[in-house]
Amino acid sequence: MTELNIREMQHADVGQVWSIEKQANRFPWSRGNFEDCLRTGYRTFLYSLDSELIGYSVVQSILDEIHLLNICVCPAHQGKGLGRQILSHVIDTALQQNVTIILLEVRASNVRAQRLYFSTGFNEMSVRKGYYPAEQGREDALLMGLDLGMTEFEQYLL
Ligand SMILES: CC(C)(COP(=O)(O)OP(=O)(O)OC[C@H]1O[C@@H](n2cnc3c(N)ncnc32)[C@H](O)[C@@H]1OP(=O)(O)O)[C@@H](O)C(=O)NCCC(=O)NCCS
Repeated sequence: MTELNIREMQHADVGQVWSIEKQANRFPWSRGNFEDCLRTGYRTFLYSLDSELIGYSVVQSILDEIHLLNICVCPAHQGKGLGRQILSHVIDTALQQNVTIILLEVRASNVRAQRLYFSTGFNEMSVRKGYYPAEQGREDALLMGLDLGMTEFEQYLL
């Protein structure tokens, strides 16, 4: 497994993060969204290979729940198992904080991300109609959850 360097995001990193965000998403977050997350105190992690930034995650904690607001691998490094490693880091961090559930929204059309989540033990909990902007109107989101007490997750760890 590739060894990722992990550290928390700082304001000075936002420009580089936003550059990856724009490359990786049809409807990227704004630079201000990342600044707001740092100001609000959300957990924001950067993942690097050697000294190259290859991805990030943004997590909001609400009591014993966490909401995975953003997870991204830069396009040049996608499909190499790094997204799965980043998600594992998010789950490990949640387990250390005694979190009981991880929630996230994913575009109905984002099959790649859904496959990652389903294969990690996330379940589809509901559909949020018209949650995201899309090229033609709006697109639904799947609300997905990983119950950290569930047998499926224990199976994932094995
Ligand atoms: C979604 C994302 C984080 C996955 O990261 P990644 O490094 O590309 O994914 P990995 O190589 O770790 O693969 C994880 C799983 O994703 C799925 N996957 C990866 N590439 C895929 C492809 N081309 N087609 C379909 N599924 C794919 C597979 O299930 C894969 O597991 P497997 O290799 O064991 O079969 C990354 O593609 C990304 O940043 N996309 C743009 C931003 C985004 O969509 N974020 C999620 C928002 S909810």
